[in-house]
Amino acid sequence: MALKISFPVLLLPLILLGAWLALASGKLWNEKNDKFLLKHWNYPRSEDSNGTYCDTMMQHREMYGQEANTFIHAPIGSINSICNLGGTPGKPNERHSVAPFDITTCTFNSTSRTYAGTRYVRRIVLDCWKGLPLDYVRHI
Ligand SMILES: *[C@@H]1O[C@H](CO)[C@@H](O)[C@H](O)[C@H]1NC(C)=O
Ligand SMILES: *[C@@H]1O[C@H](CO)[C@@H](O)[C@H](O)[C@H]1NC(C)=O
Repeated sequence: MALKISFPVLLLPLILLGAWLALASGKLWNEKNDKFLLKHWNYPRSEDSNGTYCDTMMQHREMYGQEANTFIHAPIGSINSICNLGGTPGKPNERHSVAPFDITTCTFNSTSRTYAGTRYVRRIVLDCWKGLPLDYVRHI
C-alpha cells in the first residue's frame, strides 16, 4: 500500500509505458530506443503548475546536472514516423522531421544550478536505426 504511493509521480507511467511497449511491439525490445524514450519523450506534457517543469523532469528522469536536454511532446507513433515517411534523410542515420513538433528544451544554469525551459514548435532531427529513433540531435 505505502509502496505504490511512494513511487515518484513520473515513474509509474514510465513502467506502464515500458510494459505497454513491450507488448505492443512483437519484436525484440530495443534497449537504445527505450533509453531514447526515457530521455526525450514526455507526452502528454507533464503538469507545470509552479514553473519548475525542467527541474522536475530532469530530476525524475535522473539527468540532473546534464547541460541540456529536449523533451518531445508527441505520440510515439508520430516520433517513430520521422524514421520512415515522416522524415527526410540528413547525415548518415539522421532524419529531419517533415512536420514541426512540440518540444521543451531544458538548459542548465551552473551558477543557480537550476534549469530554464524553452518551449518550441519546430522540426526536429533524430538519429534512427532500423526504423526507430535512438537519439535526439537538435531542432531546426
Ligand atoms: C513543483 O511541482 C513539482 C511537481 O508537482 C514538485 O515535484 C516540485 O517539488 C514543486 N516545486 C516547488 C518549488 O514547489
Ligand atoms: C544563471 O543564474 C544566475 C544566478 O541566478 C543568473 O544571474 C544568470 O543570469 C543566469 N544565467 C543565465 C544564462 O540565465
